[in-house]
Amino acid sequence: MGCYRVVQVVAIVSFVLLLPNTHAWGDDGHAIVCKIAQARLSTQAAAAVKKLLPKSANNDLSSKCSWADSLRVVFPWSSALHFANTPKDACNYKNSRDCVDLKTGIKGRCVVSAITNYTNQLLEYGTKTKYNLTQSLLFISHFMGDIHQPLHCGFGSDRGGNDISVHWYRRKQTLHHVWDASIIETEIERFYDDIDDFVDAIQKNITKAWADEVEDWENCRKDDISCPTIYASESVEDACAWAYEGASEGSVLDDEYFLSRFPIVNLRLAQGGVRLAAALNRIFNTKYAAEM
Ligand SMILES: *[C@@H]1O[C@H](CO)[C@@H](O)[C@H](O)[C@H]1NC(C)=O
Ligand SMILES: *[C@@H]1O[C@H](CO)[C@@H](O)[C@H](O)[C@H]1NC(C)=O
Ligand SMILES: *[C@@H]1O[C@H](CO)[C@@H](O)[C@H](O)[C@H]1NC(C)=O
Ligand SMILES: [Zn+2]
Repeated sequence: MGCYRVVQVVAIVSFVLLLPNTHAWGDDGHAIVCKIAQARLSTQAAAAVKKLLPKSANNDLSSKCSWADSLRVVFPWSSALHFANTPKDACNYKNSRDCVDLKTGIKGRCVVSAITNYTNQLLEYGTKTKYNLTQSLLFISHFMGDIHQPLHCGFGSDRGGNDISVHWYRRKQTLHHVWDASIIETEIERFYDDIDDFVDAIQKNITKAWADEVEDWENCRKDDISCPTIYASESVEDACAWAYEGASEGSVLDDEYFLSRFPIVNLRLAQGGVRLAAALNRIFNTKYAAEM
């Protein structure tokens, strides 16, 4: 290998190592939610998604599900839209109280309002719209994942566990990252061949173990197209019961924590995927889509 080549390799490797780590369901979590969702789309919704996805996605929604995370630095306004911030130990979600950008204090800016926002934009599909609906699709697909991650609706006081340092087995980690990525990674490492094998296992449970519940997950009250307030409420309840429970600054989280928590993560990934599909099906099955 010539000297120039070595320099090039070192440069590329350093660049990759310097990439900031993302703070949302890791890429795997988002990809899993989107894979589950895309497989459940109606013919109409599948066609609309195919049309809206950028060519580079090759009609694979999961390949673009972390796009919104890559924007957080470029578009600081979008940063607050990945979370809702509940008061310490409240363990419930209230729109008027908790949907706020903590950095600016501006109300109505959180993952709950973002899902409603991008749902409404997508309803303009097939009309002349000022919105970039490709972006609307990628945002809603990402945020439907985030809102199902319990600590994305955790306490504002510790930034959803970002300020709580724990050990994941031997490795130092934030509690937030444990729920974004570590539990999923450890599961795949221990129980599955790869991410697709894991998705298969979740899909089997959607059609068997959880079959009786799936309709409830899909339904919103009245004629709502998505009902993010419900998803956020469930998340903060799980955050209190499972994520914060038994995990404080300096805790060592190992098998005892992992084995009792991974079923919650699996359920949330399944619900995220089922509900993303249900929302997209409702959006694109409206009269607007029929006009295309
Ligand atoms: C709604 O979407 C627009 C376009 O992406 C964005 O500028 C605005 O900040 C969003 N608001 C919320 C609450 O998501
Ligand atoms: C819409 O957004 C996508 C993703 O950011 C971008 O690639 C595309 O060029 C945008 N389309 C228009 C018409 O601006
Ligand atoms: C599927 O359901 C079974 C029975 O409840 C459970 O043991 C298993 O962990 C579940 N797997 C996934 C991936 O959810
Ligand atoms: Zn996110």
